[in-house]
Amino acid sequence: MPEAIKRRGDYEARVTHNRQLGKLCYRLGLEFSGDAARLFATFQPGQFVQLEVTSLALPPADKIPAHLQDQAWRHVMLRRPFSLCSVSATPTTTTIDIIYYLFGPATLRMITLEPGHRLRVLGPLGNSFAMPENKQTALLVAGGVGAPPIQHLATELAARDAVSQIVLFAGSKTIDDLAIERQDTPQGVSLPDLEAPNIAVHIATDDGSAGHHGFVTDCLVEWLQEHGEGPTADLVLYGCGPEPMLRVLAAIASRNKIDCQVSLERYMGCGMELCQSCVVEIRTPQQTETIYKLCCLAGPVFDAREVVFEEAH
Ligand SMILES: Cc1cc2nc3c(=O)[nH]c(=O)nc-3n(C[C@H](O)[C@H](O)[C@H](O)COP(=O)(O)OP(=O)(O)OC[C@H]3O[C@@H](n4cnc5c(N)ncnc54)[C@H](O)[C@@H]3O)c2cc1C
Ligand code: FES
Repeated sequence: MPEAIKRRGDYEARVTHNRQLGKLCYRLGLEFSGDAARLFATFQPGQFVQLEVTSLALPPADKIPAHLQDQAWRHVMLRRPFSLCSVSATPTTTTIDIIYYLFGPATLRMITLEPGHRLRVLGPLGNSFAMPENKQTALLVAGGVGAPPIQHLATELAARDAVSQIVLFAGSKTIDDLAIERQDTPQGVSLPDLEAPNIAVHIATDDGSAGHHGFVTDCLVEWLQEHGEGPTADLVLYGCGPEPMLRVLAAIASRNKIDCQVSLERYMGCGMELCQSCVVEIRTPQQTETIYKLCCLAGPVFDAREVVFEEAH
């Protein structure tokens, strides 16, 4: 993986938008100027920021979903980590977009952000997905809130013409939970941010509300079976999502001898290698013992062969 970018800082951003995409899903735009604009314009897919949301107030009670009513009142003491789904720069400003899902007290407070509000942002943090070398097809698999960095990667691969073909598999519990901007048309669901001649998108939902009814990794297996004729050395696999999904992805990659990078989530107290809360168990080349690396420093992107995933229960 590429070295973590060492230049990082604690900057102020201006909120440009905070739109609801689905019942529990929002898209937040943050604009930087000056030095921060130049730094955030270099942001690579897979890197992340830590948002200072500890002082935000709770939204009104009628805006708090029933299943979050109890935990809404918990104190938010730490910054929260988020990947980006897009970065756009003008000569003087850079705007980053975050798609966030309402999980608990911090993300709930984020829905109160309005255009013009100011927010402290620590970043850019972590390493990034390594760009493919001598590959024809990039297979991207996103599950749940793993979608934003995968969207960022897909658009970057397309913009750089890094491969001839990008196939993106996006999975969520229901279509309303998809953490990608979508349009529902009589013909079906379209994802405007991913419309490019060399990007093909396959959707999977656990409840069958759109696309394949079942796991997103099933779609990948089907694709590999249908395209089984070609050499797998031409393929590269990228994934971000829940750990059980990444574990399956790593097994598929290993079985088919495909290079695979996965972006992992951990609780991140600081995001800058101080609190040691974000360890990932890593295989050493000898495979006889394992070591621990910090997800916020050595990751969040790892070679899937290195990661010791938790056994499924
Ligand atoms: C590198 C990275 C990138 C991420 N990118 C996104 C993103 O693009 N969109 C998005 O919606 N979410 C993303 N997350 C997860 C996001 O940080 C959590 O959803 C958020 O912190 C939840 O805070 P909360 O107080 O609302 O919920 P909490 O009640 O604190 O947590 C609810 C659940 O969120 C997860 N979580 C909570 N705190 C953390 C933490 N500090 N670090 C990691 N996971 C945590 C846990 O699974 C927990 O069970 C990312 C996490 C990491 C580590
Ligand atoms: S988040 Fe604190 S050390 Fe990684």
